[in-house]
Amino acid sequence: MPTDARIEQAVAALARGELVGVPTETVYGLAADAGNPEAVRRVFALKGRPSDHPLIVHIADASWLSQWADPVPETALALAAAFWPGPLTLVLRRARGVPDAITGGQDTVALRAPAHPLMQAVLRGLGHGIAAPSANRFGRISPTTAAHVRAEFGERLPIVLDGGPCAVGIESTILDLSGAHPAILRPGAIGRAQIESVIGPLVEPEAASRPRVSGALESHYAPTCPLRWVDAAAIDALLVAPENLQGALVLRCGGSIDPAHGMTLPDDAVGYAHGLYAALRSLDARVPASILVESVPDKPAWAGVRDRLRRAAVRA
Ligand code: TXA
Ligand code: MG
Repeated sequence: MPTDARIEQAVAALARGELVGVPTETVYGLAADAGNPEAVRRVFALKGRPSDHPLIVHIADASWLSQWADPVPETALALAAAFWPGPLTLVLRRARGVPDAITGGQDTVALRAPAHPLMQAVLRGLGHGIAAPSANRFGRISPTTAAHVRAEFGERLPIVLDGGPCAVGIESTILDLSGAHPAILRPGAIGRAQIESVIGPLVEPEAASRPRVSGALESHYAPTCPLRWVDAAAIDALLVAPENLQGALVLRCGGSIDPAHGMTLPDDAVGYAHGLYAALRSLDARVPASILVESVPDKPAWAGVRDRLRRAAVRA
């Protein structure tokens, strides 16, 4: 089926209240018409996600903000002008009429304009906001290819738009603009310094005053086998005598590795993020005793990757 027909099919399904797998530049989303509470409830049911966890509403551009948020602060418009369409989600006070099913009953709503051209086409075709959590079962690794989405849901999600591998590879940065001080709730490709270059210095929030973020629950993004952080020297020592791996597989950061013992990702943060979830999925599929993740640099550019690895390692 040509692309235009597939987009029309996806838009028609969304308009009927059905769910569709959609590509974004960060990860694939499980999309529903955000104005249709029945459709939104289907998202929670299919994901197995607790219904009080709020969803991100995707919009085509900043001109759609006022349908969902009230007020729309100047800082939101400045950030949208700088980073949209792109991997930045803004938490704002919700406008009247935004369904509780989206916000988990909170008085705020999370909004983002995604950059992927197929998702932009679907948004403009529907002419309405699209609620889309990452298209994985609750607590599992986010999908970065259409094949990953099919592996998660199979026949239960008949329409998955294939937009190729996601460019960014980890979920959007979430910035809360609803409180007294802007606060990063989830680090991602848009870094703290970039945000501060537009709206000035951020102050660290009191953890207890933060809104609920399901991605902030421990044991999120986890493969089924245990995942452990190991420093580079210890990895090198193990690979000299691979029998000491005892069934573990290694995820290296830079350098090389015999494919029998694991995989390597680029030692730049952008390249690493791009490949991370696919690498964890393919290592996990080999059912190792554990995954040993070589520690990554403790630098600001790595904040998003470190956050996801830390959560994935919680159950180890
Ligand atoms: O990159 C992304 O953001 C991807 C793609 C598909 O756009 N979406 C994504 O959605 O990661 P999800 O549902 O897996 O994560 C959304 C995060 C959750 O941690 C949720 O708690 C948080 O956004 N969130 C949603 N609404 C919120 C709100 N009103 N206040 C605080 N956090 C909110
Ligand atoms: Mg998710």
